[in-house]
Amino acid sequence: MKYIYIKTWGCQMNEYDSSMIVKSLEKNNEYLITENVEKASILILNTCSIREKAQEKVFHQLGRWRKLKKNNPEIIIAVGGCVATQEGKEIFKRANYVDIVFGTQTLHRLPKMISEVKKNRKYFIDISFPKLEKFNYSLQPKKTGCTAFISIMEGCNKYCSFCVVPYTRGNEISRPCDDILFEISILAKKGVREINLLGQNVNAYQGPTFNGQICYFSELIRLVAEIEGIDRIRFTTSNPLEFTDDIIEVYRDTPKLVSFLHLPVQSGSNKILSLMKRSYTIEDYQFIIEKLISARPDIQISSDFIVGFPGESEIDFQKTIMFIKKINFDMSFSFIYSNRPGTPASEIKDNINLKEKKKRLYILQNIINIQTMMWSRKMFGSTQSVLVEGISNMNVMELYGRTENNRIVTFTGKSSMIGQFVNLKITKIHTHSLKGELI
Ligand code: SAH
Ligand code: F3S
Repeated sequence: MKYIYIKTWGCQMNEYDSSMIVKSLEKNNEYLITENVEKASILILNTCSIREKAQEKVFHQLGRWRKLKKNNPEIIIAVGGCVATQEGKEIFKRANYVDIVFGTQTLHRLPKMISEVKKNRKYFIDISFPKLEKFNYSLQPKKTGCTAFISIMEGCNKYCSFCVVPYTRGNEISRPCDDILFEISILAKKGVREINLLGQNVNAYQGPTFNGQICYFSELIRLVAEIEGIDRIRFTTSNPLEFTDDIIEVYRDTPKLVSFLHLPVQSGSNKILSLMKRSYTIEDYQFIIEKLISARPDIQISSDFIVGFPGESEIDFQKTIMFIKKINFDMSFSFIYSNRPGTPASEIKDNINLKEKKKRLYILQNIINIQTMMWSRKMFGSTQSVLVEGISNMNVMELYGRTENNRIVTFTGKSSMIGQFVNLKITKIHTHSLKGELI
């Protein structure tokens, strides 16, 4: 038996892609996945290029694998994902011991590429963009637990000035609605209770249906909510740009859709939003939130922020801070702007020094942390519906699960509760988790 070792960096889309890679390689029982890199004869790196550091990490990792290959020249090293798509042949130049470079849309061809390399002992590269082809190989996904991610669309057409995604994942394209529903219904039969609909811009979803119509995102959520066994629906990531009223209506009438929304705003300054080519203003964003609150009064909002975008003045930064307080964002992601070659923003003069950028990030993250803690404290004494995911890493006598607003709760319970929803009373609030008691 041959063993494969796979390392994945980056977003949930990459995690999902890696699960498809594993499935395609395990299919013919020729390969088996291993957690032990020393044991493997095929090493796969699924890469991310969203920020500089992610890219440099790739070559450091490959350097480590080079040593393994020196001891065993039979080892095949494959590099895929966003760095592979962007760098292409350059990867072979910088790391000539790499055998395969594959793209975000060609991962299903990996078994064939591996057998080619074995036969001919030649480099192999395929970073083309065959539309949705990879999904033809992904129906009937493996069950991973009581929650599952389902990719509903690929790529992005928004071309925000700082972002590489449209170049590495291609244009937006939606998977057929019926394929998605089929996949989810199989998962539901296998015990999945929570679905997370994945895509770079899920609210731009426009999937073809079997009768030649188009299914929009709001309708897709309604259809998923009708699948027996699925009791909780999340999605990642949506964009304020196409957050239309029909989606807000779903919040009004679909309780299975969680009261927690990740809606990246990036900055609280209209000047910076315009330089970022985000195509909305903070007033537009605020209007969406107001409508959401009227449809779902208990909704909590999280976001992504970029600090130190070229041209961001102290006043622009203060506007972001004020906006964070105004919306009362819950736990969020924040990043220092990273110049990505080939993006329009890389042409703008970067006038802020790193020390200042770090200071801004520190201030912003502190405020987010305080707000996150306030949201958690509000939960003290409340009853929460928790989907039990497994045995706690910290204490094997306890179970852990997730609340609707994405908090981990640990509690004492029976192992038969794993995979089920339980009602817990929240008895303790920690920084990164909560404690609860069964009701
Ligand atoms: N589709 C999502 C974004 C996906 S990328 C959206 O509409 O917002 C995930 C996050 O990475 C972005 O929200 C942004 O905050 C961050 N990011 C992307 N490119 C970046 C860059 N060049 N520098 C710093 N952060 C970046
Ligand atoms: Fe990137 Fe903007 Fe699309 S952040 S993923 S180009 S919406």
